[in-house]
Amino acid sequence: MSNDAKNRSNSRREFVKQSSLLTGGIIAAPLMSHANFFSGSDDTIKVVLVGCGGRGTGAAIQALLSKQNVKLVAMADAFRDNIDNCYKSIGEELADNAAILAKIDVPEERKFTGFDGYLKAIPLADVVILCTPPGFRPIHFEEAIRQGKHVFMEKPVAVDPAGVQRVLKAAAVAKQKKLNVVVGLQRHYQNSYRELFKRKDQIGDITSAQAWWNNDGVWVRGRKAGQTEMEYQMRNWYYFNWLCGDHITEQHIHNLDVVNWFKGAYPVKAQGMGGRQVRKGKDHGEIFDHHFVEFTYADGTILNSQCRHIPGTMSRVDELLIGTKGKIHCGAGMIADSKGKTLYKFDSKTENNPYQTEHDELFAAIAKGQYKFEDAENGAYSTMTSILGRMATYSGQIIDMDKALNSGLDIMPKAFAWDAAPPVLPDADGFYPIAVPGKTKYI
Ligand SMILES: NC(=O)c1ccc[n+]([C@@H]2O[C@H](COP(=O)([O-])OP(=O)(O)OC[C@H]3O[C@@H](n4cnc5c(N)ncnc54)[C@H](O)[C@@H]3O)[C@@H](O)[C@H]2O)c1
Repeated sequence: MSNDAKNRSNSRREFVKQSSLLTGGIIAAPLMSHANFFSGSDDTIKVVLVGCGGRGTGAAIQALLSKQNVKLVAMADAFRDNIDNCYKSIGEELADNAAILAKIDVPEERKFTGFDGYLKAIPLADVVILCTPPGFRPIHFEEAIRQGKHVFMEKPVAVDPAGVQRVLKAAAVAKQKKLNVVVGLQRHYQNSYRELFKRKDQIGDITSAQAWWNNDGVWVRGRKAGQTEMEYQMRNWYYFNWLCGDHITEQHIHNLDVVNWFKGAYPVKAQGMGGRQVRKGKDHGEIFDHHFVEFTYADGTILNSQCRHIPGTMSRVDELLIGTKGKIHCGAGMIADSKGKTLYKFDSKTENNPYQTEHDELFAAIAKGQYKFEDAENGAYSTMTSILGRMATYSGQIIDMDKALNSGLDIMPKAFAWDAAPPVLPDADGFYPIAVPGKTKYI
């Protein structure tokens, strides 16, 4: 090993050890001390995946492809079949790359199922990848940080203000412990957005913005015979707010986050309208199919946001920032002055895969023993922005950010078990209660 490589490896070992020591991990659960010994004993960065669905599969592959000495050592999912599918897909995807395949080391005894699988998997990690539905994110993130682990977690990071508060508290602890946290708001890791952001002053002060996530919508996982209500909702999670947060939170967060990022602020209030025009089936749970929200920032800047899941309508996923001297068209990668003259155009040939870049940068920092990423706080506030929007469209009232954030609103179940009752239940005909603007109240 060259001196340089030795230094890097020593500094990484120190870093992993320090992070673990700072957590008091050595005196924690027995598996934890095993994990610390493990972590300190060689250069391998041990990765644990919690939430083995579509995104978890992708994220695990991206971690393995990150060019660092990474090993996937454990997987946790509520459902065994999802672990099996994920494990198989990762193997198939990497089938022609023996060197990367060798980085998968997940024997039967390190595949954990059920609601508490994360508790058994996290102690084995240096880095935890959190890709469950977002309702569980605050619980899982809190635990990963408590145990002194670096984290990659998908957006959104919560579904209600109580969850956002938990993430904010854990984010502060992560900072103290110098644990890297990357959130899958991948536009922050995308070349075109980064180049636009560098040049954002060309449009002067941002005074208004528009954001869109309009498309056909997503999958439906219909009820199957023999499922408990809890299992059904866990499988068909997109349609239940305690798991998903509605599509304004689940997907439109990306666009709201871009506006917050460029604006350098978060909205202070919101009002809006929404409903369900076509999403009316029993398997459509309780979420809306369209929301239109007017967010206001402290300096009076307005963000008009629209998100729609209705097949056959206009599709657009994009952001537009309007400033005193011009406009940034994010989707087009273009900056124009107030008269429409192009000031900058991103060269699309230089676009990257931001899903890979976020892992490349995270794992490179960890391998070098650097503390570089603290995305959780922004992830929490952008998640809260989207929740604010949902509270506005569900109630039809003006919702104040501070009041909402401190409302204590907690929509998660009180108990996690297959025979426990989820927080929303169907009526005798199989339909769920839907928010009614003017009647639904929050604060
Ligand atoms: N950044 C992006 O562009 C992007 C793209 C896709 C998905 N995502 C995010 O990734 C997350 C997962 O989405 P997905 O498409 O992979 O969904 P998915 O349904 O394919 O996978 C979710 C997995 O989590 C498992 N799970 C549920 N509850 C769990 C628990 N308590 N413990 C362990 N496992 C649990 C499910 O069984 C399932 O296997 C969502 O937050 C989504 O927003 C982000």
